Amino acid sequence: MTADPLITGLSHSESSPWMGIVVILLLVLQTLLIIGLQRSRLSNKRARKALKESQKELEEKILARTESLHTTNNLLIDEVARHEQTGRQLRETKLYLQSMINSMPSIIIGVTATGEVTHWNAAAENTFEIFSNEALGRKIIDLLPLFPVTLNAIKNSIRSGEPHTIQYTQSDEEEKRRYFEITIYPLISSTQQGAVIRVDDVTLKVTIENLMIQNEKMYSLGEVAAGIAHEINNPLSVILQNVQNIARRTDTNFPINQTRATELGVDFPQINTYLHAREIPQMLDSIREAGERSANIVRNMLEFSHNSQRKTSLVDIKHLIEQTIALNRSSYPKPQSDQALQIITEFADPLPPLHASAPELQQVLLNLLRNAKQALASSAIEQPCIWIRTYAQNHHLVIEVQDNGPGMIDTVRQHIFEPFFTTKELGSGTGLGLSVSYFIITERHQGTIDVKTAPGKGSNFIIQLPLQS
Ligand SMILES: Nc1ncnc2c1ncn2[C@@H]1O[C@H](COP(=O)(O)OP(=O)(O)OP(=O)(O)O)[C@@H](O)[C@H]1O
Ligand SMILES: [Mg+2]
Repeated sequence: MTADPLITGLSHSESSPWMGIVVILLLVLQTLLIIGLQRSRLSNKRARKALKESQKELEEKILARTESLHTTNNLLIDEVARHEQTGRQLRETKLYLQSMINSMPSIIIGVTATGEVTHWNAAAENTFEIFSNEALGRKIIDLLPLFPVTLNAIKNSIRSGEPHTIQYTQSDEEEKRRYFEITIYPLISSTQQGAVIRVDDVTLKVTIENLMIQNEKMYSLGEVAAGIAHEINNPLSVILQNVQNIARRTDTNFPINQTRATELGVDFPQINTYLHAREIPQMLDSIREAGERSANIVRNMLEFSHNSQRKTSLVDIKHLIEQTIALNRSSYPKPQSDQALQIITEFADPLPPLHASAPELQQVLLNLLRNAKQALASSAIEQPCIWIRTYAQNHHLVIEVQDNGPGMIDTVRQHIFEPFFTTKELGSGTGLGLSVSYFIITERHQGTIDVKTAPGKGSNFIIQLPLQS
């Protein structure tokens, strides 16, 4: 059996103190090693624990960050959705506003403070025949050079903050004349400066207003005329009656005149010779003629008064027209140019029965025929012609009296139905013919009378009388 070298060593040097010290040192060293190892194991364990803890902490932090990212992401998704919804609502509102502006009959144009177009609605497209995409961004004054919308007017309206209205009449031809009302509204916005221009076609409104003014004027003048007629009527009848008396009392054919002359001791045939030599009977004749003419005027003027007696009945309009033409022929001697005058009648067959006052209608037809003849006589027309047509249209009986005479200029045409308006020489026209006709047709028969005329193109008077259904 082999002995432990240490013990062996001890036994060999039992007496050596160094051996013991070595052993002790070795033992101490061993102990120290064991303690060191133990310590290192302990610190390792602690480090591992710390590592684990920091790993756990890290994981928790990552988890928390992931969660917050998740929440932020969700918020972002919500925000985007809200944004999209707002965008959609904005687009819808824009479309709605656009369709509102487009469905308006007014022309609506948006402009910047320097006059560039920002809006151009459907009415503007239709009226000016310029599409919105062509108009946007362009200067309003370049787009509508004839319209009185100036840059100054826009600026003034913006500066004052007040709407500015302009009346505008387009085209000088009466038939095609159109009236516009243009209003410039300053834009009420803190971020943008500009204006909204509204253009309205007020042609119908202006036409109706003019008609109303015309009617009003005619009726008030009519009242005045009727009043004057009543006043004149009495002295006039005194004049006419006395002229008739003088003519009778100087007439040799009446035996009573001879008797009275003998009673007074005067020579009646001599007086008569004197009167004829001094043209007294002719003078009396001209007083009578002038008096009768005045009485005629007064009678016409009295037509304006509403209470005069009248009768209506079923009228044979064809017969009435033919009778009127005959009457017109006999009552007015033919002027030189009348040789070639043709009166052409065109009657629709059958004509519906018309309930009216025959004498009144005859008076209107006579006035129109007389005017046409006078107009034709006043100008050198090669083939003077008058057409009289009658036909039924839209529950109305229409009577047209047309001539190929000189026609009328606008300023005459606008006034022809007014009492006392005449272009004829003093003494040859009273200006009552058409105003009386107007009154008879509109007031007495609830019809209409109008004229289509132009200089050099003749005149066509159109009467429409309502038919009883
Ligand atoms: N057919 C026509 N062609 C051209 N002008 C016309 C015609 N008819 C009427 N006028 C114009 O209308 C005016 C008014 O006519 P209206 O019949 O009322 O009066 P007048 O003919 O002048 O006078 P009055 O009829 O009392 O003798 C005329 O003076 C004339 O200028
Ligand atoms: Mg006349």
